Amino acid sequence: METRIIKGNIISAPEFGKLEITEKGYLIAVDGKIKGTFQKLPDEFSDCTIEDYGDALVMQSFADMHLHAPQYPMLGMGMDMPLLDWLNTYTFPTESCFKDNKFVRKAYHRLAYELAAKGTTRVCMFSSIHREATLILMEELENAGITGYVGKVNMDRNGGKDYQETTEESISETVKWLEACNFEHIKPMITPRFTPACTDELMQELGRIAKEKDLPIQSHLSENTGELALVKELHPDCVQYWETYAKYGLWNDKTLMAHCVWSDARERKAIKDAGVWAVHCASSNENLVSGYAPVRVMLNEGLNVVLGSDIAGGDHLSMFKNITAAIRASKARRIMDDWKTDFLTVEEAFYLGTSAAAPFFGEKPGFTPGNSLHAIVVEDETLPMVRPLSVHERFERCVYRREHGAILAVYSEGRKIFGK
Ligand code: GUN
Ligand code: FE
Repeated sequence: METRIIKGNIISAPEFGKLEITEKGYLIAVDGKIKGTFQKLPDEFSDCTIEDYGDALVMQSFADMHLHAPQYPMLGMGMDMPLLDWLNTYTFPTESCFKDNKFVRKAYHRLAYELAAKGTTRVCMFSSIHREATLILMEELENAGITGYVGKVNMDRNGGKDYQETTEESISETVKWLEACNFEHIKPMITPRFTPACTDELMQELGRIAKEKDLPIQSHLSENTGELALVKELHPDCVQYWETYAKYGLWNDKTLMAHCVWSDARERKAIKDAGVWAVHCASSNENLVSGYAPVRVMLNEGLNVVLGSDIAGGDHLSMFKNITAAIRASKARRIMDDWKTDFLTVEEAFYLGTSAAAPFFGEKPGFTPGNSLHAIVVEDETLPMVRPLSVHERFERCVYRREHGAILAVYSEGRKIFGK
């Protein structure tokens, strides 16, 4: 039996908009599973070693529910075009380089390390169309201690001559990839890139595979108006974008749909009714001038909403930065909505970047006993203060700003995967 006792100011988000704080408390996990948060060390653990972080903040680690691994090399560049031009000009040529396995290993080793160092311990990630590169990505994430899902991207149209599979290739490579997946913490996910990049035949087969193997699904939905027009042209039989996925069995409570910026009331109802997960990618939506997703309306209507960095449409892996981007986007949305919708509070946005994703992984929000231990330890900003701050105030400031190297330790499924 392995016991882990972390001492510090323990902060978690057990409910949307609510924080639970145990000052100078103990977060205890046994065999990787949380036992509880305690103000006083229970007697049964009095002989155990304590990892004492003093006055530091111990909080939940992050879930990045939408990002593109092969776009890591283009982080922070090429933000001068709308989605479809951006894909053709920058993205597809960059992703096509992931056929060189030596480069792949180097890039993904660094990406996996950076995720761990930034406190992201759960991911749902797009790879490229390449089977081998996808397996290398999964191995690097596994070795770095990250958990979650990765998908080999499927695309058999509109990728240009250098970045496209035939329908047969796309299917057979996916089947071979699934057979080769054998990782403890990183599992496969069916990943049609988006409707414009997948023929009906491919979508149908992917829906069949997902059902047969009971696999989760990830894709993009209603991100940009140019994309909506193209989908309409490709699927005149469908009233709305979501129907192009639903038609082929790619629309259920294990489906993640990134963006949903332009999803209207009817599309949002379809998302809610099916239990589909809307992944809000605020940084990317701003960078690619896609729009401001009606995140507060989605939440009020009861949709499952989680956050994604969507690198490299998004320019930051840090989920702290993506959380504050979501807050800012909700404020822009409030202005657009004639001050009728509320913006996200820090506590609410933190919940979306941490606890909201827990049920997708079969767990409960917050540091609930029974959950696996996913946590980070963060040191405060060192600005001069005019008065002592409460732990709650320190949490808020920490979400917005930290000194370089502020993340002292990261735990993922009970294991310490980063630490000084
Ligand atoms: N839609 C289809 N592919 C992509 C992608 O790589 N990034 C974003 N933001 N949207 C997409
Ligand atoms: Fe994306």
